[in-house]
Amino acid sequence: MSGSDVKLTQYTHGMGCACKLRPQDLEKVVQELTVLKNPDILVGPETADDAAVYRISDDIALVETVDFFTPVVDDPYWFGAIAAANALSDIYAMGGTPLFALNIVGFPVKRLSLDVLREILHGAEDKAAEAGISILGGHTIEDNEPKYGMVATGRVHPGRIWTNCSARPGDVLILTKPIGTGVYSTALKRGLLSTEQAGLACRIMATLNKSAADTLRAFTIEACTDVTGFGLLGHLLEMTRGSGVNAEISATAVPYLPDLFGLLAAGALPGGTKNNLAYVNEFIDWPVTFDEYRKLALCDAQTSGGLLAAVPEDQARQALDALRSSGIEDAAIIGRITSEGPGRICVLEESN
Ligand code: CO
Ligand code: CO
Ligand code: CO
Repeated sequence: MSGSDVKLTQYTHGMGCACKLRPQDLEKVVQELTVLKNPDILVGPETADDAAVYRISDDIALVETVDFFTPVVDDPYWFGAIAAANALSDIYAMGGTPLFALNIVGFPVKRLSLDVLREILHGAEDKAAEAGISILGGHTIEDNEPKYGMVATGRVHPGRIWTNCSARPGDVLILTKPIGTGVYSTALKRGLLSTEQAGLACRIMATLNKSAADTLRAFTIEACTDVTGFGLLGHLLEMTRGSGVNAEISATAVPYLPDLFGLLAAGALPGGTKNNLAYVNEFIDWPVTFDEYRKLALCDAQTSGGLLAAVPEDQARQALDALRSSGIEDAAIIGRITSEGPGRICVLEESN
């Protein structure tokens, strides 16, 4: 198969961030790792944040993250672009600016032509250029299925880090991309997506969170994360538990990809999405009228999802307007931090 007619999602079992390990399994293993005490570690593993942050000097800290996964779309060029946008997203979610990246590649040389790899790397290179950086190296192994991702390094001022554990009661929650890319990728693999829907999913996942982050920098960002494999509620839960607050979100205010519920009903249900719901369920208060599909949508394992930011109430409207005027049309206010607490999330049917 050459680069142009290959259908990459046929070469893999799980897809995108949906192939993450289950959070409940991962937690147990990661807890056993020890981190040496060092005052320059500004963000480490204990807060389940997006990236590690390490202070180099009083005004520079390094932000470092790694992400790689199996194909979420069929086209190699778009797969590379999406994986690159996804890896860089964690730098933006910390309030950082990317500096450079390295490739991580697993590739089935015996099953796929090297043209496919060439196109994956080309897509990633173009996306990195859009972020204003270069890919300076990498590492490749022979693998049974294609995998691609990046190690990304960025910088941030130590006093301006956006952690995911500093949200405060009263903050308003803003989401910058629509939900549903996990369901779309699964639907694509099963041949359930129209060409138009597949194109939309590609564009959304390949959109850098750069412009969202650049826009939000003009406002007070109390906490920020990006929505990826653990789904909207999974990542919001990391924020609420980490911050010691409770939140409420309005299910109808959340932007969804078109026909998401139809695709779920047609059986396009990623395994990661189901795991996410099982994991968050005990922390969520659902509306009694809510069916399973609406719960699953809010837990859908995203690939290269949007930023989820907690902004002081008196700046939220302005921040949303600014995002929309910079072309982020799907940006929405989806809820708020209600009180201090153990991290519970109340899902409301309507906006309050
Ligand atoms: Co992240
Ligand atoms: Co990540
Ligand atoms: Co963050």
